[in-house]
Order: sequence, then C-alpha cells, then structure tokens
Amino acid sequence: MNNMKQIFKGKKILITGHTGFKGAWLTQWLLKMDAKILGVSKGIPTKPSLYKELKLHKEIKSIYLDISKDDRLEKEVIKFQPDFIFHLAAQSLVKESYLNPIETFKTNTLGSVYLLNAIRKLKKNVYAVFITSDKSYDNFEWSWGYRETDRLGGPDPYSGSKGAAEIAISSFQRSFFPDEGNIKLSIGRAGNVIGGGDWSENRIVPDCMKSASINTVTQIRNPNSTRPWQHVLEPLSGYLVLAKNLYENKNIHGEAFNFGPSNDLNVSVKDLIKTMSKDWKKIKWKILRLDDGQKESSLLKLNCDKALHFLNWKPKMSFEESASATVQWYKNFYDSKLNIKEFTLSQIEEYENK
Ligand SMILES: NC(=O)c1ccc[n+]([C@@H]2O[C@H](COP(=O)([O-])OP(=O)(O)OC[C@H]3O[C@@H](n4cnc5c(N)ncnc54)[C@H](O)[C@@H]3O)[C@@H](O)[C@H]2O)c1
Repeated sequence: MNNMKQIFKGKKILITGHTGFKGAWLTQWLLKMDAKILGVSKGIPTKPSLYKELKLHKEIKSIYLDISKDDRLEKEVIKFQPDFIFHLAAQSLVKESYLNPIETFKTNTLGSVYLLNAIRKLKKNVYAVFITSDKSYDNFEWSWGYRETDRLGGPDPYSGSKGAAEIAISSFQRSFFPDEGNIKLSIGRAGNVIGGGDWSENRIVPDCMKSASINTVTQIRNPNSTRPWQHVLEPLSGYLVLAKNLYENKNIHGEAFNFGPSNDLNVSVKDLIKTMSKDWKKIKWKILRLDDGQKESSLLKLNCDKALHFLNWKPKMSFEESASATVQWYKNFYDSKLNIKEFTLSQIEEYENK
C-alpha cells in the first residue's frame, strides 16, 4: 500500500454510501492519505454509527440525498468534479430486500444508473470503482469459487438488484465510456465483510456484538451457512488497488474483480461465532429453528485469481486475525472506552504495514 498515498493525496474523491459500514472505513482510510472527500448518502443508517464515532463529519463535506430519486446527484457530481469515485451506496441487506424489493432495485440498480449518467457529463479524467457483491453471481451452491465470467443473477431482490446493476454498468461502459475516453471504471465484488463499527440489522457480527455488550444471547438463523468472511480492510484495499490500476492506465477498464479470502477459508456461521467468542467470553448464542420462506444461499465461494494476476492483490489477513481484529474493536468500543478513532487508525496502519 506504500505508493497509494502518492496517488490519492490531494485528490478529489467522491464516496457514495460514506456513512455506512464500509464507506466510513474507506473515508477514514482515504483521509489518512490526505484525500479531499465528498460523501453522498441518504442518511446515517445505524445508531450507533462508525461514521459518527469517527467524527468524520468534521473532516469531509457530506451531502444527503436519495440516489434513486434525486436529480441533485448529477448537479453535485458536476459541481465537485471528482478525480476518483467509489460507489458504495446501496440497500445492502438481503432480509430488507424481501420487505422492500422495489426500494432495493431502485437504490441498487437505478441509483447506479443515475450515477453512471452523471459521470457521463464529466469532461476530465475520472476513475470510478463500482462496488457490487459476490451475491451478483447466480449462485448454484457450487463447492468451487465463482469466477468473474460466471453468470450473474440472484435468487433474492438484493442479489438480483446487484446483478442488474452490473449489467447496467457494463452497458454504460460499452455505450458511453470507450477505452480511449476520459472515464475509466471497474467493478469490485466482495464477500461477507466483518470488522468493527458495523451495526446493521440481521448481520451476524453486529448481532453478536450488540448482544454481548448487554450480556444477552444471540439467536442464530443459519449456523451451517458458509461465507467468504473477510475483514473490511481486505475488500477496501482491493477497491483502492482497482482505482490505482485504472489511474495508472492498466488495461482493466470495464473489468470486474472478485475480492475474497483464500479459497480454503470459507467458514460456517457457527465457526465464526465460536472463533470470536474465544476473544470475548460475553459472546453467547443459541440456534434458532426458523422457516420464514426467505432463503439465503448456504454456500458461496469466490475465486480471486484474476485480482492476483492483474492487480497483484491478495488477502493479507488470516481468518483468525480477521475475527480477532473485529472482536478487539467492539471490545474496545463497549468495554474499555479507548479512543475508538485512534484504535481504528491503528488497525488501518497495521494493515498497511502487512
Ligand atoms: N457489508 C458486507 O458484508 C457487504 C458484502 C458485499 C457487498 N457489500 C456492498 O458494499 C457496499 C457497502 O456496504 P455496507 O455494508 O457499508 O452498507 P451499509 O448498509 O452499511 O451502508 C449503505 C450506505 O448507502 C447509503 N444509502 C442507502 N440507500 C441510499 C440511497 N437511496 N441513496 C443514497 N445513499 C443510500 C446509506 O446512507 C449508507 O451510507 C454496498 O454496495 C453493499 O451492497 C457489502
């Protein structure tokens, strides 16, 4: 990550979804590299929120709008004239997507289209990374990892909306952003992310941490589901490497890349919780028998050979390190009342030095 700072220092960077879990980590990381950031989000999605805990509002400009509706987005993009864009804004929860499928498609698919259309109006060189998901793949529960050329699709509205966003991104790229043009973009697909500062509903780590903090038991829905868990800094490093490679004019315009843990590291929900509970004894759980008809796939693996080959990116943290870094963050937040901004920056620094 050593030469990253030279690239992002002083650059104007638009981050959509900056108030969310990944967005707040990315904002903090890019601020550490002295970037000038404009954040665009609908609001602050959780309480508490990492964005607030890190006091990021004091260091960046934020604009609150709904990307699925607001034509302000285009005006703000043109006014800001970004050098780089990281598009993370999304309705990011599978369960919520069953409750509000239309809103999910509007935000995730149409919101991406509005942003793409706004980018068309920029005349300067712009390097944009669109964040979708491993769930963009049509998941057949194969025991091998999905490759970037595998079919897109999704059994639930969240996954479908992300797959549809990818088709829109590819269509805009081929229609409006030629190889020799001023706009370069790529897509980052990552798996399930863990790390401090996530308080989203119905995600296993936040559920466990919230329960541990008040000495209650977490109810587990799908104990045997395996996921490509990775620490939040891993996919973020992938997105930064993607942006860097676009900037350096490597031949990756329009390409999608998987960012996941090594292939032998798919771990079940139950094993994730057991591992985390070694670091924090207050984590207690109970398996819930439930059939609400809302299916979540039980096996999803990513093949990350393309990122290694073209971007020289590979994960740096073992599963145990990722779980431990996550638990340490929450323990500090709830129990020891350390300065959480300093602690977050120290985890970023540690990652950079790996
Ligand atoms: N967290 C994960 O495990 C994971 C895994 C794979 C992919 N992703 C993707 O990474 C991105 C970030 O995920 P996250 O976990 O930080 O999400 P999050 O839910 O924590 O944050 C979502 C962000 O998007 C903003 N947003 C939501 N709807 C909006 C709208 N209509 N208009 C403008 N802004 C809106 C929210 O205000 C917030 O800033 C998302 O695109 C998500 O789909 C996340």
